[in-house]
Amino acid sequence: MRETIRVLGLFGSPRRGGNTEILLEEALRGAEKEGAKVERLHLSDFNITPCKECHGCDETGNCIILDDMEKIYLKLLEADVVILASPIFFYGVTAWTKALIDRSQALWVRKYLIKEPSLGKEGKKRKGFFISLGATKGQKVFEGSILTVKYFFDVLNAVYAGDLLFRGVEAKGDILKHPEALQKAFEAGRRLVLE
Ligand SMILES: Cc1cc2nc3c(=O)[nH]c(=O)nc-3n(C[C@H](O)[C@H](O)[C@H](O)COP(=O)(O)O)c2cc1C
Repeated sequence: MRETIRVLGLFGSPRRGGNTEILLEEALRGAEKEGAKVERLHLSDFNITPCKECHGCDETGNCIILDDMEKIYLKLLEADVVILASPIFFYGVTAWTKALIDRSQALWVRKYLIKEPSLGKEGKKRKGFFISLGATKGQKVFEGSILTVKYFFDVLNAVYAGDLLFRGVEAKGDILKHPEALQKAFEAGRRLVLE
């Protein structure tokens, strides 16, 4: 029998009931339909201090800031699939999302300085998927965030398995006017578990 796949959904928007939340929920419902064990983290509910660049993790790969990231590191490492959803704020991901990503510097240290096998070639291979949207129609609106998220996934040993990106979505719940987007998110969640 196939092992149960653990999917971690990271909700990066502070707006509850907003557009990225709706899409990520659809993706997670798709994953659940295929038997995955899903965990949801609304990042704005957590106390995640931004990285202080103190290099306190350089020797051990453990961040010296004691806050909710202690729990979140464990969840990131337990997951087989990480789905990160963030709206675009000023051509980047939200501050909550970026704080989590920057604090993953401790995992970067484990992977690239300490060379922990669990994050190396022999370690668990994860999948990462990015969901984002923005109000504008700008061609480059997702470029910076995609790069940021790719490097975050790399630290987790997660291949960038794809993304869903939508332009021209602004007011709370606007994404509901695009049922095809919800369908795509649901199918993406299913595929991440099945393939
Ligand atoms: C502080 C802030 C900055 C934003 N910056 C951008 C931006 O640079 N480009 C863009 O297309 N939309 C921008 N937006 C619009 C949001 O991306 C958009 O409203 C989105 O639908 C919000 O998603 P949510 O409902 O999941 O929070 C910004 C919104 C806020 C509040």
